[in-house]
Formats: sequence, structure tokens, C-alpha cells
Amino acid sequence: DLNIIWMLLIGYLLGSIPSGVWIGKIFFNKDIRNYGSGNMGTTNTFRVLGKKAGVVVLLIDMLKGSATALLPMLFQSNANALLIGLAAIFGHAFPIFAKFKGGKTVATSVGVLLVYNWQFFLLAWAIFLITIYLTSMVSVASMIGFSLITLSSLFYQDWILTTVAFVLTIFVFVRHWGNISRIRQGKENMVPFGLGYRA
Ligand code: G3P
Repeated sequence: DLNIIWMLLIGYLLGSIPSGVWIGKIFFNKDIRNYGSGNMGTTNTFRVLGKKAGVVVLLIDMLKGSATALLPMLFQSNANALLIGLAAIFGHAFPIFAKFKGGKTVATSVGVLLVYNWQFFLLAWAIFLITIYLTSMVSVASMIGFSLITLSSLFYQDWILTTVAFVLTIFVFVRHWGNISRIRQGKENMVPFGLGYRA
């Protein structure tokens, strides 16, 4: 089906938009990849460029996933929104507009989830926020969030969701390898609130 190829291509290009890098360069004259964790995602944008830029990058990165997951509706195709959404997640991880070195895929995946199953979207946010509050580490919240979403999807008996969530969880852990080693050394960056934070 030619539509599927188009949807995957559009999704990949949307996902490839390195919002954190571009916003940093255009509005702050800074490449966020040279600061903080060196990541191009929402967390590092908050860290390096501040709240406003962080919120904008979070919204754009989620929107990349949501817009892609909506493509089947737009193309009047019965392709699975979650599987098409993977194209944006892949683009975010391996962006053609940033030398294929992308982010950790958390926000974009959550954006796909919003379109696919909003209950799981809310569940993901709840798990995520509670874990950030308990640990003050976004990386831990991301990894626990993905793991628990995979587990809770079992109750839904939605095997596509479980399989995709499982694969994404593995990928998220791989992408957080540097974070994991910082966590083990007690050197992981913290957000300035929650129970884990010591000023
Ligand atoms: O969304 C990525 C987050 O889990 C960690 O980001 O910049 O602290 O490595 P960072």
C-alpha cells in the first residue's frame, strides 16, 4: 500500500525535527548538545534553556508523535496508529536533520500514546510525575514509566500495544545507558524538587 510508505516517510521527517537543537540555536544562540546531559530532549532543554523553552520543546516533540499517529485518519487508511507512530519515534531517535544523532524518544512516544489510547497517555503521565516526585530524576521516571506501561498494557490484552511498549522500553533503557551509569555513581542530574533533591 503506497499510503503506508507515505505515512512512514512523513512520520519519519516529522520525528526528525530536532526541536531542542533548533530552538536553542535560533532563540538562545546555544547548541544544547554541548551543555548539561548533551541530549536534545525536553529535560535537557529545561536544564539548559529554561522553563519556557522546555515546555515548547515538550509540546513540539509530543506533537511530532501525535501528528504522525493521526496520519492513518488523514489518509483514510486502516493502518495501525501505533505502528505508524513508530516512524516519528524512529525519526526522533535517528533524525535526518541532525546527523542521525537524536534523543531518548520519551516525549515523542507519549505523543503517539495520546492518539492511540488516551487512558494510557494519562497513566504514563501519572507514573512519570509520581516517579519524578519520588526520585527527582527524570531519567528514572522515563525508564520506570515505560516499564510500567508495558506491564499495565497486559491487562488490556492489546498485543500490539504490549509488543510496541516492550520494544520501546528496551530502546529507552539503551538510550539511558549514560544516565544509568550516572545513577549508579550517585551523579545523575536532578530536578530541583521532589523527595530525592538535596539543595
Ligand atoms: O527524556 C530524557 C530523560 O529521561 C533524561 O534526559 O537530559 O537527563 O539525559 P537527560
